[in-house]
Formats: sequence, structure tokens, C-alpha cells
Amino acid sequence: GKVAVLLGGSSAERAVSLMSGQGVLKALRTQGVDAHPFDTGQQSLWQLKEQGFARVFIALHGRGGEDGTVQGALELLGIPYTGPGVAASAMAMDKVLTKRLWRADGLATPDWRLVDSAEGVAQAFAALGAPMIVKPAREGSTIGLAKVELAEECAAAYALAAGYDDEVLCEQFIEGEETTCAIIELDGKAEALPVIRIVAPGGNYDYENKYFGDATQYFCPSGLPDALEQQIRQMSLAAFQSLGCRGWARADVMIRKSDGKAFLLEINTSPGMTSHSLVPMAAGTAGISYEALCLRILAAARL
Ligand code: DAL
Ligand code: MG
Repeated sequence: GKVAVLLGGSSAERAVSLMSGQGVLKALRTQGVDAHPFDTGQQSLWQLKEQGFARVFIALHGRGGEDGTVQGALELLGIPYTGPGVAASAMAMDKVLTKRLWRADGLATPDWRLVDSAEGVAQAFAALGAPMIVKPAREGSTIGLAKVELAEECAAAYALAAGYDDEVLCEQFIEGEETTCAIIELDGKAEALPVIRIVAPGGNYDYENKYFGDATQYFCPSGLPDALEQQIRQMSLAAFQSLGCRGWARADVMIRKSDGKAFLLEINTSPGMTSHSLVPMAAGTAGISYEALCLRILAAARL
């Protein structure tokens, strides 16, 4: 039957989603899937039923797409969709809820404070120490994120993050290696793909260095010691299961330089599928082409 590739949307990551969605659309079509673009920023989801779509590939990022809302609408419409369900998507979008759940399940994540004012950021800075990351609790692609090194930077960091979300997360910065690990389901069984190690210019893996620049270096295979590679994979799989994810997702993990300890930062339940994105890269190392990856994600679509 017909497949709708949901793309665009109205979150701050709209531009990224358009790139992800176009890539997925093209890949599915070359594989003979009757796939069509559907921009949720411009079209009402309720049209999916009238237009006879049998399944949906969600290539939306951020709120109103990756956060359980679209998933809930699709549940009501009775149309199977890719990726995690309503509750897992909603929890993963909220980095604070995610961290609480992981802590409860004994999974390491950096110390944090949830704040609602510039004074709150200053108090968090006094408690957590420098450097500290300040970011919107429910945003992606490093949008609205600042690294605070000095107390006088707290107010500006709060203003930036609060421009995207009224919930602002302050998090202890983990100095060390930045890694990410994709989880993909095959025949109902979730498995971790090879870890990617990311080396961005000046340690700054920001929006520009994620999607546009060519200065970021990606290592996959990661080049990390095998025991650490396996630990990151296991931890990412546990993080996926802790939130009740299904289909696919990608966990971001930091490795502390001082002692090699791994910390989970977040899990993305509708990861980027752009030409610069990470899940396609990890799949490539595992011998799975971009086209095969899209088919595999679609095959796991469910209600
Ligand atoms: N939030 C972006 C799309 C990612 O995690 O890939
Ligand atoms: Mg993210």
C-alpha cells in the first residue's frame, strides 16, 4: 500500500527534517515502495486516512513529530508508523524525564538541575561546577544550547535556552569522547549498530558542524577499545529498553576522559537521516545501505 513520509513539521528542526525526509523518500522509491511526501507543517494529519495511506515513515524531528503527539494521532487513525510509540516518544523528547528514568534504572547520566530562571542557572552552576551545559529540555540538534564556563555567562545561556522551551536543563559537562550508538530492530529484536566517535572542531558539535560543515570527523568503527565499544552498545540498548522504545533510535553517550566512565546524554527517537547523519553512517559500517536501512525501519512500522 501507499506509504507517507512525514517531513517538515513546525519545530525548530524543520529544516533538518526536510533533509531527512527527502532522503528517505528517494530511498524508498528506488526500492519500489509507493512513497509520498507529507508535510505536517502544511497538511493536516487527518488527511492521511482519506488519502489511503497504509503506513507512515516518520522523518519529523523535535516537538510535534518526535514527541508522541503525531504518534498519538496515528494511533487514533489506525495507521502503523515507524519508531517508538506514544509514551516512549514523549519521554525521550523530554531530557529531564529521560534522565530520571535512566537514574531509576541504574544507567549513568550526568548530574543535572531543572531550572526556570537565570538565577536558577546560576545556582545550578554553583552546584554542578564548570563547565556546564544549558539547554532546552525538549529540543534537538543542539538548538538553544550553550556551554557555560563562567558565572557571568549564566544569564545569557538561560535566555537562549528559554527562547525554545520553558523547561531549561542545566547539565554537568563531561569532558572526553563524544559517541553515539544506533539501535535498530530486525524481526522484532533490537540490536545496537557499531558506535560512532565524533570529533568536532574545538569539541563543538553544533548545528553547523552537524549538518553543513565538513570539519567534523566521524570514526566508525569507533577505534575505541573493544570492551568500551561493547559497553557503549549495551548501555545504549539498555537506554532504549528503559524508555520502552521500539523500531529504532539513537543514543548519545559521552566517555569521560579522566576515568573512561560512560554517561548517557539522551536518546533520539526519530534520528536524523540526512547525508551527514549518524544512523546511516553506522548502518554503512554494518554493511547496511541507506536504502536497506530505510526498508528495515519501515518493515518495523507498527501500531
Ligand atoms: N535531532 C537530530 C535530528 C538527531 O538526533 O539526529
Ligand atoms: Mg537530540
